[in-house]
Amino acid sequence: MKSSYLSIGTLSLALIFAGCGQQAEQAKPAEQPKKAEQAAPAAPAAAAKTVDFVKDIQPIIEEQCLVCHRAGHAAGDVQLDTKAAALKPSGAGNCVIPGNPGKSTFYTTAILPADDEGLMPPKKKGGPMSKDKIELIKLWIEQGAAWPDGVVCKMKAKAEADPAAEKALETTTAIHKNIVAKLDVKDAAQMKEYSVVIPGSDVSFSMVPIPAGEFTMGSPDGEAGHKPEEGPQHQVKISPFWMGKHLVTWNEYELFMLPEEEKKTRSAHKTNAEADKVADAIARPSQPYVDMTFGMGRDGFPAISMTQHGASQYCKWLSAKTGQYYRLPTEAEWEYACRAGTKTAYFFGDDASKLGDYAWFSKNSGGASKKIGQKKANPWGLFDMHGLLWQWTLDQQLPYTKDAQTDPWVKPSKPYPHATRGGSWQNEPDRLRAAARYGSDPSWKVQDPQLPKSIWYHTDAQFVGFRIVRPLAVPAPEVVHGYWHSGVEKGD
Ligand code: HEC
Repeated sequence: MKSSYLSIGTLSLALIFAGCGQQAEQAKPAEQPKKAEQAAPAAPAAAAKTVDFVKDIQPIIEEQCLVCHRAGHAAGDVQLDTKAAALKPSGAGNCVIPGNPGKSTFYTTAILPADDEGLMPPKKKGGPMSKDKIELIKLWIEQGAAWPDGVVCKMKAKAEADPAAEKALETTTAIHKNIVAKLDVKDAAQMKEYSVVIPGSDVSFSMVPIPAGEFTMGSPDGEAGHKPEEGPQHQVKISPFWMGKHLVTWNEYELFMLPEEEKKTRSAHKTNAEADKVADAIARPSQPYVDMTFGMGRDGFPAISMTQHGASQYCKWLSAKTGQYYRLPTEAEWEYACRAGTKTAYFFGDDASKLGDYAWFSKNSGGASKKIGQKKANPWGLFDMHGLLWQWTLDQQLPYTKDAQTDPWVKPSKPYPHATRGGSWQNEPDRLRAAARYGSDPSWKVQDPQLPKSIWYHTDAQFVGFRIVRPLAVPAPEVVHGYWHSGVEKGD
């Protein structure tokens, strides 16, 4: 803290102290405007504005401070949710001394250099704040630190204006509007298998209906190959959805991944210009630096090595193109669909020696990925649910609880681990079980030749792909947006 005074430079330092002296004596909030005028010659930029607590300061406290300084969680004994708490005298120096920013640690900790460990908020938690915010804080205290009676600050997620995030939300809203306008199937009884040609291409994909129901998620301790993260088993209710009959292929994914190619293809087809405009507003992968098939095959082969964010953005793009709501499955939806009403280790029973009829894995893959749909489907008509590729889900991989749940989703709060399911062409049979989970890991992109590491590619995860789902019910735009953008994609 001491170092803060030195860092602001001697001139302003002198001014602050000069200001302090006067203010400490006056300390009459009612006389604030006068004070602002007095300060004007010294700090011209500060002259005009009268700071409004609710409009200017409350959002700063709520977004930048309360996560660490609130009732029941007062780091350094500093609590900023109420006026009484913020103005409370303390041993280390008062947080807010009306009229005296230079003595108020609220201000002096804000102006510390970025590498000072006393900086507030701390460097990794959004500090230092913008010059504008710091100036508002200084003015607010100078003007008497008015805090209307009864106003209590409540913690909020940080809502820094991020143009990319705003655009992403705008795009979601536009897509959502089209989806709702086009909604044809509204009743589970009308759900049928269907195929769609992706507009602007010759590429199609098929979706099979998955009925609503309830199942036991996870595996019992006694199941051969059981791992701790598969328990405790718990009851889960699932609402109806369609699931991709197959893994998403390169034919499909490249339309999204290689926008220039897609535009050429599009010109030879009749498309909806409005839908294309929305789809084109979605952020697309950077051009990969390496052959992302890794020589394992493209036509009819499942797309691999995309990040979970990449897979989610494909779903968003496909939703824009088709006017149907697509997203990744939750972990629960995935396991429910894989089991298809069965309770055994695999959807065909417990006998791993039959796996070759249903799955590509270490013993029959010859060490490479394979074309989709060559093995037998599960009882609900889904292919390659065991083996071939680990499949992305929407969930953070965390330990289960015993509680019964309905349509659970463990929304990620950090980039790793995201849960993948199903086992791959590289794995032994026990990893292909319906209950097996595999969390993503930073080592999945060590080879990535791009710096900083790409949010689109896991170059070292040639065993990961995905399939899509389409929930029957289309939730509100904010909920849809939350599934497509869980907010942790840039965090690694
Ligand atoms: C990520 C948590 C975190 C955030 C966010 C944060 N602080 Fe702090 N703050 C701390 C911790 C921890 C301490 C105690 C430091 C210590 O005791 O060494 C602290 C101490 C302080 C102190 C006392 C400093 C002193 O030397 O007396 C003040 C004042 C303060 N914070 C103000 C703020 C303000 C204002 C904000 C928002 C603009 C903020 N903090 C945001 C964690 C945080």
